[in-house]
Amino acid sequence: MSAVAERSLDIQRNPGVGAEVRGVDLRRVDDALFAAIHRAWVDHAVLLFRGQTLSDDELIAFSRRLGPLDFAPVQEAGRRFVEGHPELYVVSNVMVNGEPIGSLGAGEAVWHTDMSYLDDPPKASLLYALEVPPEGGDTWFCDMYAAYETLPEDLRRRVDGLRLKHDGTYNSGGYVRQGVEATDDPRRSPGAVHSVVCTHPESGRRALYLGRRRNAWLVDLDLEESETLLDALWAHIARPELAYRHRWRVGDLVLWDNRCTMHRRDPFDAASRRVMHRTQVKGESRPAP
Ligand code: SIN
Repeated sequence: MSAVAERSLDIQRNPGVGAEVRGVDLRRVDDALFAAIHRAWVDHAVLLFRGQTLSDDELIAFSRRLGPLDFAPVQEAGRRFVEGHPELYVVSNVMVNGEPIGSLGAGEAVWHTDMSYLDDPPKASLLYALEVPPEGGDTWFCDMYAAYETLPEDLRRRVDGLRLKHDGTYNSGGYVRQGVEATDDPRRSPGAVHSVVCTHPESGRRALYLGRRRNAWLVDLDLEESETLLDALWAHIARPELAYRHRWRVGDLVLWDNRCTMHRRDPFDAASRRVMHRTQVKGESRPAP
């Protein structure tokens, strides 16, 4: 990529975190444009592209510019794939013949980083809006670099060097993942252990890497001490200045960096329809301190 002259982009920063990139058709991205998008993504962590008209193949093709894709996680209904597209995860409340076509329903999805319960979590996620409700269903993004940088000094000193177990029992909608036995004991739950402060492999910046709150455990501490410290960290994350709220329009594509952001989703009226297609780009390295 270094041999390619980067094109300049029309970029509008979001409040909180991220930026909107204007005037780009993601069906037509040459190497120079991709180099600029990649640079903007590393710099801003969350990129919004409005007005896209992507087929599933085109969404997958653009996502693959960032690297090999993960297969989608199994949906709550037990189905894994969109027929012919194992990389596509459907996030939707829509039912067809009494069966949900996607995951997460119409409820709230709590703050999380995608699939951080894996040893090698995805580095990027792309979410593309096909149908959106008139109200609700907004997605919020949290800047985990800023979360780390604004930690009070005593808290920062306490968490530096600690390791966190990321739970693989529940998804962000609170549903138990396929094939997993429900438990609320983080010592017994499936999951992966990562440093609670990680260094981003591309930006070199340090970020808090929290995954999700439920069943989290700072494995170097006993459970009670871990709960107290995690509560303090999560209270810090709730600061509104760390977050960007995205109100979706059909045709929006949001690309985010899982290594330095978290996201959550507001609930919406279950009688309205929301259909989103998501892809995930494999991580190149384990999150490292
Ligand atoms: C997700 O957590 O990947 C889905 C977020 C959303 O539905 O907006």
